[in-house]
Amino acid sequence: MIGPTRLAASRVVAALLVVAGCRAAPPPARDAVQEAFRDGALSAPEARGHRVFLQRCATCHGPQGRGDGQNAYNLQPPPPDFRESLAKVPRADRRRIIEGGTAALGRSPMCPPRGRSLDEDDVGALLAWLERAARPGAAPAEPDVPAARGARAPR
Ligand code: HEC
Repeated sequence: MIGPTRLAASRVVAALLVVAGCRAAPPPARDAVQEAFRDGALSAPEARGHRVFLQRCATCHGPQGRGDGQNAYNLQPPPPDFRESLAKVPRADRRRIIEGGTAALGRSPMCPPRGRSLDEDDVGALLAWLERAARPGAAPAEPDVPAARGARAPR
């Protein structure tokens, strides 16, 4: 039989192990989009849009849409820097690009269609974030973040 003192002692040991375990755990990954949202630098739709963008678009367009994604060198024409180009693309055309790719506007087929894999909320959020990314010379709304985080967009 385990006496009350030994039981208490084993509880203390267990508690210490839990504390030690917490200490040893790596700090949670910094989430720049979440921080920008908390600071008020991004609205909720913009933050969601940027998350979707980081997951689906940044591999070509770069994390801030500056045309510097890891796959950009591979594309002809390359993805443009949104700060310089996007102001010339009306919102309705941005939507058509998201849904049908640049080919939907008679441009190259390099920007793939996403119509079936994004729901309307995702598309609306992307459009909200693109609005910010389009500001010429705008200071980034948040620090650069790596493209592939695997984090899910806030729902
Ligand atoms: C496979 C690489 C790739 C992916 C992934 C991609 N794009 Fe593109 N995108 C391009 C390229 C290349 C162009 C330029 C094509 C052209 O001019 O014909 C482009 C052009 C665009 C444009 C027009 C920009 C301008 O200023 O003229 C928009 C808007 C756009 N992409 C949005 C998106 C969004 C939103 C996503 C994610 C849902 C996305 N793209 C995913 C490669 C990509």
